Amino acid sequence: MNDKKLTIEEIKARLKIVCICKGIKQSRICDAILKGADTVDKVNQATGSGSGGCNATRCGPVIKKLVESKGKIILEPYQTEVEDDDLNF
Ligand code: FES
Repeated sequence: MNDKKLTIEEIKARLKIVCICKGIKQSRICDAILKGADTVDKVNQATGSGSGGCNATRCGPVIKKLVESKGKIILEPYQTEVEDDDLNF
């Protein structure tokens, strides 16, 4: 068992919803990445994210950032507005 105590900020970040249409939390996305999902598509297949109402336009850039960080929880507020460059997963 992991005895590391999480800070309030870490707990809040883990509980933050990445895919709002399916209620998928950042912790679930990161767990999928840590278990080997190393692309946005693989994360979406593992968690069900990216297939809801936004069609990955809202959640995709955040998932991409989490994949690039190798599943490290993002503590700071993340941007959910979409730039054209963010849609090239
Ligand atoms: S927020 Fe659910 S598919 Fe993008």
